[in-house]
Amino acid sequence: MLNLGLIGYPIGHSLSPWIHERFLKITQLKGKYETIEIPLELPFDKEMNRLKKQNIHGFNVTIPYKEKIIPYLDELDDEAKNIGAVNTVLNKNGKWIGYNTDARGYLRALRHYYPSLLEEKDNKILILGAGGAARAIYYGLIVAGFKKIDLANRTIESARKLLDLKIANIETNVLTLQEAEKLIHTYDLIIQTTSVGMNPNADEMIIEMNTLKEDAIVSDIVYRPLVTKFLKRGEELGAKIHHGHAMLLFQAQYSFEIWTNTSFHMDEMEKEMYEMLKGR
Ligand code: ATR
Repeated sequence: MLNLGLIGYPIGHSLSPWIHERFLKITQLKGKYETIEIPLELPFDKEMNRLKKQNIHGFNVTIPYKEKIIPYLDELDDEAKNIGAVNTVLNKNGKWIGYNTDARGYLRALRHYYPSLLEEKDNKILILGAGGAARAIYYGLIVAGFKKIDLANRTIESARKLLDLKIANIETNVLTLQEAEKLIHTYDLIIQTTSVGMNPNADEMIIEMNTLKEDAIVSDIVYRPLVTKFLKRGEELGAKIHHGHAMLLFQAQYSFEIWTNTSFHMDEMEKEMYEMLKGR
């Protein structure tokens, strides 16, 4: 009986239980995935000691504990170490090992819909935002071998901090949002990683887009709404679009693989998730 879960606060609206319960069904593994809310006023130390005593096989970590969990781990996977945040913990014979599945999750999500994009390492990419998600995606794209990845953020110093991830010899310009707007027609892939445009502020857009390169792909990691204003604008300009639920799904798949060593297909489930989110 697999004992899985999620820690964070607040997690009432998390889609992770919905996703992982379906993974359990698809793989026909017996188990449960429980949410463990840890309000900020509770001592995290005590909560972690309590969790260590329970027979939990693995768990996800979300806001605001992705960095706070690190001192409680026995081992840290290289990817999580570089990104500086953990969203998945495996209990391996009593040892807690921390992983970050966001980078690979985003890459898998991209490959699933646009496999040829991954073949062209000279494609020019723009990441909008410099938070935790941007960090993981930037790292993932570097590891995947892309050579030209620009970063743009409202606070330019935060974007500069991401440059410590530049482990390979790649070209990165750090831009203001206004500069990114002017250069937008030069990118093959544009990735929106901030919360701008998320419900209830669905009428907001991080930057305006007027002309896009032919065959450009516009990607948004926001999935509520599923088609953000940013994606709609991309579509109007003839771009191919990449919805936010894909990253959520593929990073969860990688977490589940870490816990269970099982690989599986999600095609049916992806459709089900798309339909479910479409109505929101
Ligand atoms: P996450 O971990 O989910 O990526 P985060 O670490 O809180 O979230 O990062 C939020 C990102 O959204 C940042 O890039 C932030 O820009 P700043 O660094 O300037 O704060 C960006 N962001 C949030 N609200 C924004 C807004 N209204 N306009 C522009 N950028 C915004």
